[in-house]
Amino acid sequence: MGSTAITQPTGSSDTDRLRHLWAGGSSRLGRNIALELVHATEAAAIAAEPWIGGGDKNAADAAAVDALRAYLSTVDIAGRIVIGEGEKDAAPMLYNGELVGTGQGPRVDIAVDPIDGTSLAAAGLPNALCVIAVSGRDTMLDASATFYMDKIVTDGAGYGVVNLDKSPADNIRALAEAKRKPVGQLQVAVLDRPRHGSLIKEIRASGAITLLIPDGDVAAGINAARDDSPIDMAIGVGGSPEGILTACAVKALGGYMQVRLHPFDAEYAEPADSASRIWEADDLVRGTNALFIATGLTDGDLLRGVQRNGNTIRTESLILSSATGTMRRLQSDHFTERYPA
Ligand code: FBP
Repeated sequence: MGSTAITQPTGSSDTDRLRHLWAGGSSRLGRNIALELVHATEAAAIAAEPWIGGGDKNAADAAAVDALRAYLSTVDIAGRIVIGEGEKDAAPMLYNGELVGTGQGPRVDIAVDPIDGTSLAAAGLPNALCVIAVSGRDTMLDASATFYMDKIVTDGAGYGVVNLDKSPADNIRALAEAKRKPVGQLQVAVLDRPRHGSLIKEIRASGAITLLIPDGDVAAGINAARDDSPIDMAIGVGGSPEGILTACAVKALGGYMQVRLHPFDAEYAEPADSASRIWEADDLVRGTNALFIATGLTDGDLLRGVQRNGNTIRTESLILSSATGTMRRLQSDHFTERYPA
């Protein structure tokens, strides 16, 4: 389960305790960093917006990468990219090990996906997001050797209930029971891929509602981890970078997530090592202090996309903090004549 424990000073007054909690406990990632990172994902979304529906996913991605990199270079962090999305399909990327930020300020690990859903953006389809997550230095798993992960994500009701060692049908039945819902009302999101042929059949045979998503399993994972969303479970094989990003969000939302790493490609029949380790969100990103930030690029279930109206560019972003267990939405209006082109 996403842990939100914060070390409290002993023997302090209530006021000191609250001050300590609101300062982020003993953590070093302050509130200003969260706002700075929103500027970075907003910059990425605004830069990529002209490419929506243009059919060129690499151009959209490159615009987002350039804007994200340029903005991050101005932020007071000593950041190291642990998850730089792009290697899987040779897309433009912020590369693993790249140092970002001014070098001043907290030492952090960074996971980026300048666009999760590049194909969605290029096709003008919903649910493309610009995403970044940070946590303390040396707390994020470097999953760069594994392009894919087997994932299962639910809200907190899945803790101690779902398990990748169980069959999908057993997980669906167990979650329905834990949520006191008929199986027929359980909504399960899965990437629409040939590798998921038998998984999709099994979900349908269980009686659950199968939501096939063309791309973008970060948004699906977040929706599954929220207890106020109609999606109950996200399941199947998706990108490892997206898995680490989702773990940061799951920790903040108090959801539940398990993954297995897959060193090779996605179209395997069986896991290379069926006894391979199961990782939970707290294993993928250790500690209590992760931030997850996303700005909508195209309209979606989670966020509105970039909207241009006259001289205004409107963006909508999410800020999730595992230190404080909060999900904030931020709507920003950027005035075109002042926005750096
Ligand atoms: P990108 O847009 O970053 O390429 O990722 C889109 C995505 O759908 C992810 O959300 C998902 O984890 C991954 O691709 C699945 O990979 P594949 O398309 O190779 O099955």
